[in-house]
Amino acid sequence: MTGATGSAGCAPDGDAVRIRPATADDHAAIAGLQGTSFPDRWSLDSVRRIATLAGAVVLLAEREADGRPVGYLIGQVVTDEAEVHSLAVAATARRRGIGRRLLTAFEATVAGLGAGSVVLEVASDDPVATTLYESAGYEVVARRPGYYRIGRPQPVDAEVRRRSFR
Ligand SMILES: CC(C)(COP(=O)(O)OP(=O)(O)OC[C@H]1O[C@@H](n2cnc3c(N)ncnc32)[C@H](O)[C@@H]1OP(=O)(O)O)[C@@H](O)C(=O)NCCC(=O)NCCS
Repeated sequence: MTGATGSAGCAPDGDAVRIRPATADDHAAIAGLQGTSFPDRWSLDSVRRIATLAGAVVLLAEREADGRPVGYLIGQVVTDEAEVHSLAVAATARRRGIGRRLLTAFEATVAGLGAGSVVLEVASDDPVATTLYESAGYEVVARRPGYYRIGRPQPVDAEVRRRSFR
């Protein structure tokens, strides 16, 4: 696992991305990325609320060259388990390993805070996200029928996935 910060580690290029803990100044950018990535758009107030819950861990991926935000992960540690509430990468920056890096950085952060596992929900009809989580070791532990409804012609099941790391 890597830490919650760090750069891509490749040769300097205009597309290098670093991951760091988000601050309140990043909430608007996170709301923007969330709104263009999911059908159920969160308001800035919603982002603020969830990002300031007890145990919240919020990471931002930004371009090293100009600080432009290209991804985020909002999660939370609750007792000895952590939960991913939302993960997204800007459409123009996908498939370059940023989503996986955000997830790995989150796991390292929450492990350091005492969590022994991470749980998340993912739409069962989303092959990109389910492939990401499957390949990262997240196993399906439950299914919530018809959980996703907003912005969809038909309700879609949620897979509840968990990865234990101790
Ligand atoms: C899911 C998401 C965060 C992935 O971010 P990303 O930076 O593109 O992902 P990565 O480049 O780190 O890819 C990690 C793995 O995901 C899978 N993956 C990513 N894009 C994929 C695609 N288009 N098709 C199939 N698998 C894909 C692959 O397993 C990939 O690993 P690999 O490159 O070694 O094959 C991004 O697509 C996104 O923001 N989607 C919209 C929001 C969303 O669905 N969030 C997750 C919901 S819980």
